[in-house]
Amino acid sequence: MDLIIIEGGKKLNGTIDISGSKNASLPMMIASLLTKQTLELNNVPNLSDVETLKHLLRILGSEIVHNNRLVKIKTEKIIHTLAPYDLVRKMRASFWVLAPLIARFGSAEVSLPGGCAIGIRPINMYLKIMEKMNVSYAVENGYVKAKSKEGLRGSKITLDFQSVGCTHFFLMLAVLAKGDSSLENSACEPEVVALGRMLQKMGAKIEGLGTKRINITGVESLSGLSIQVPSDRIEAGTYAIALAMTGGQLKLNNINATEIDILIRALESTGVETYSSNNSISLERKNNPIHSTNIETAPYPGFPTDLQAQFMALMTLSNGVSRIKENIFENRFMHVQELARFGANIELEGDLAIVKGVKCLIAAPVMATDLRASASLIIAALAAKGTTSIRRIYHLDRGFEELEKKLNGCGADIKRIRDA
Ligand code: EPZ
Repeated sequence: MDLIIIEGGKKLNGTIDISGSKNASLPMMIASLLTKQTLELNNVPNLSDVETLKHLLRILGSEIVHNNRLVKIKTEKIIHTLAPYDLVRKMRASFWVLAPLIARFGSAEVSLPGGCAIGIRPINMYLKIMEKMNVSYAVENGYVKAKSKEGLRGSKITLDFQSVGCTHFFLMLAVLAKGDSSLENSACEPEVVALGRMLQKMGAKIEGLGTKRINITGVESLSGLSIQVPSDRIEAGTYAIALAMTGGQLKLNNINATEIDILIRALESTGVETYSSNNSISLERKNNPIHSTNIETAPYPGFPTDLQAQFMALMTLSNGVSRIKENIFENRFMHVQELARFGANIELEGDLAIVKGVKCLIAAPVMATDLRASASLIIAALAAKGTTSIRRIYHLDRGFEELEKKLNGCGADIKRIRDA
């Protein structure tokens, strides 16, 4: 298994081009199943999650040409309607293929995604959406077996929680359902808006994207198109936090700064100076102390749970006490024990982490537990004294394109050792 070695204590200075968004690419690729025509996605990041999804789509009948960051998908015919455990367990988002398979084929069997390192992650709200839209289902042998005998019927649905995945799922079912549908308490994340806008351009009738109520009038069919995947706000946020930790000056290109506004404000309160322009942001930390800042994760436009671990790494070196509350997932603190190996002082009280800043972090061997937790270890290692080794970095490869190259280009010292 690959290993990452980081020589800490170097400031970051330079420019990073932010890649296309993983969490927008995945649902956009899945939505390609809704049409017989070709969907052309530009700016798709080269990540292992994208490879996993390509594999699954090919099994279902898609022809895919992937050239650099351009992915062309054509699914003239669905040839299989079963998404196997082996693929769905690797990546929870593959569960979402259930929606276009039902919409286009009328039935599907998709493995239960199961729990994962960050929480139980049940599927009760997905089942509710299906029920409301005239889809019968059984959960048997670890699979959701769904059928829509008389076709999808538009419906009024209210989510108990603003779930990103359930909003993607609803969009992909309702666009081809008979009649009108509405979703109350829908997620407003930019990735949901990206999927919705793409579906609109394919011919779907959708209103209310980016708000807590989405209305859809179903159409007969959707057409193909060519579209750009938006940039990855979580990748951008991760590098912004890294800069806040190491000091220096960083310019992040290809971003929409308003999408990480809440993070930028939190970083400013830690003492970082920021300058946003049209599609970039520059950040600078001088030699001032890192001021402790409290955060609380929440659905968009709140503080993203996908940046919580990274922000916690930053707070381990603050000049006070920071309170970090996780409101989205019940077990997203796996990084705490690994950060402690650097000498961080963090206490957990349920969904609250109390981080008491220490003077310095000391390098240590650590292990990644999930995708964003691994980013927090990278950030801690960049600022720690000495040489850190990080194991299980396949987590990192799921979501960060060319991370070593991008950080080394700004003065970091990161090496990957293959097959350690
Ligand atoms: C998406 O996951 C993202 N994944 C996650 O990013 C992100 O952390 C999450 O949204 C929240 O922003 C992708 O886009 C591929 P949810 P998703 O449904 O859709 C509960 C990363 O690191 N829930 O919004 O699965 C659920 O357990 C990943 O890139 C139910 O209770 O998240 C959670 O507590 C990790 N029942 C909450 O809702 C359900 O039926 C929000 O989860 C569905 C969800």
